[in-house]
Amino acid sequence: MGKKTLEETVKEQEFYDDVKHNYHLEFQQSEGIPIYTGYHFTDLRTLEVKPWSRMGGLGAYVNLYGEETMGDNYVCEIPPGESLKPQRHLFEELVYVLSGRGATTYWPREGGPKRTFEWKEQSFFALPANIGYQHFNGDETKPARIFAKTTLPALFQCFKNKKFIFENDFVLEDVDKDFFSSEAKIYKWKPPDYKIVWTANFVPDVRAFDQMTYYESRGAAGLSVHFHQSGLTRLYAHMSEFPVGTYKKGHAHPPGRSIILVTGKGYSLLWQPGKEKEKIKADWKPGSLFGVGLTDLQGECWYHQHFNTGAEPARYLVLHVNSPTLADKHIQVEYTDEDPEIRKIFEDELAKSGIKSKMPPECYVDPTFKWKKK
Ligand SMILES: [Fe+2]
Repeated sequence: MGKKTLEETVKEQEFYDDVKHNYHLEFQQSEGIPIYTGYHFTDLRTLEVKPWSRMGGLGAYVNLYGEETMGDNYVCEIPPGESLKPQRHLFEELVYVLSGRGATTYWPREGGPKRTFEWKEQSFFALPANIGYQHFNGDETKPARIFAKTTLPALFQCFKNKKFIFENDFVLEDVDKDFFSSEAKIYKWKPPDYKIVWTANFVPDVRAFDQMTYYESRGAAGLSVHFHQSGLTRLYAHMSEFPVGTYKKGHAHPPGRSIILVTGKGYSLLWQPGKEKEKIKADWKPGSLFGVGLTDLQGECWYHQHFNTGAEPARYLVLHVNSPTLADKHIQVEYTDEDPEIRKIFEDELAKSGIKSKMPPECYVDPTFKWKKK
């Protein structure tokens, strides 16, 4: 039997009750806030948000194509000087602060001691499953806006019960750990990339974070770091940076990634295998969000590739949710094998900004080419 096209796959999925009956989407619709769905969003900092009674403040869901039952994303704004309602839920969250400053108080068990940490624009933190917490805006004059990725969709598809997810008093066994301790554990992956894995539930400022190492295999002399969190099982993150005038290698892997631009200007291309001439171009700048496309029933993933056309290094934070069913398979397109149109589009885009390409001509002909580390 031959491989199915994406259209055939989507049509076939209409016959599966669990896909047809999307309990998670029903829940999102019941929340009364905007639900945006797309491959990419230009600026989360200016996305329209509306009053959100469950959370307090204002909010919107931001659904990325391809990760429908794996993870979801939301933007939430805390008005000046105000706080959100206390929360407790069975899903995990990763939170990135888009703007403003404030604090979060958390309590591992109801009636137990409370602790508080402060955050500001560019802070990044994790909320383990079923801890109690409350967010506060520490600025009397400006709103604070956060972006979060959660594991809620999979829970809803499994349990289909809001009370079970939001009013569950089960105490997880490691709940008394100090999840937000400033003590981070660091270890390195095996060669050749020696990626640093930084284990911490709070990173004060991802823009200022300077403990990144070369990630040679993805090209462009890029830097990278992984962030793993204590008390979380299905979410983690990584952050990458690559220099002016360069682009990374195209690659494919399962969806479930929310890519947020921290610094720089450029674009990414997304394309379905076999439809290389129908690339989606996601232009980005700080505050932009995009995903990595879809996966079909055979587990074949869309490709994506990142291009820096700005005057400063491009840095992005990627929030991951692991699929319980899809193997985390990666495919990479070497520069020597890529569609020549990729290079041409890049050089045309650079010319618009008067920036010269720093891509070494040898990288297109020598498969063993290695960038010089600075
Ligand atoms: Fe990727």
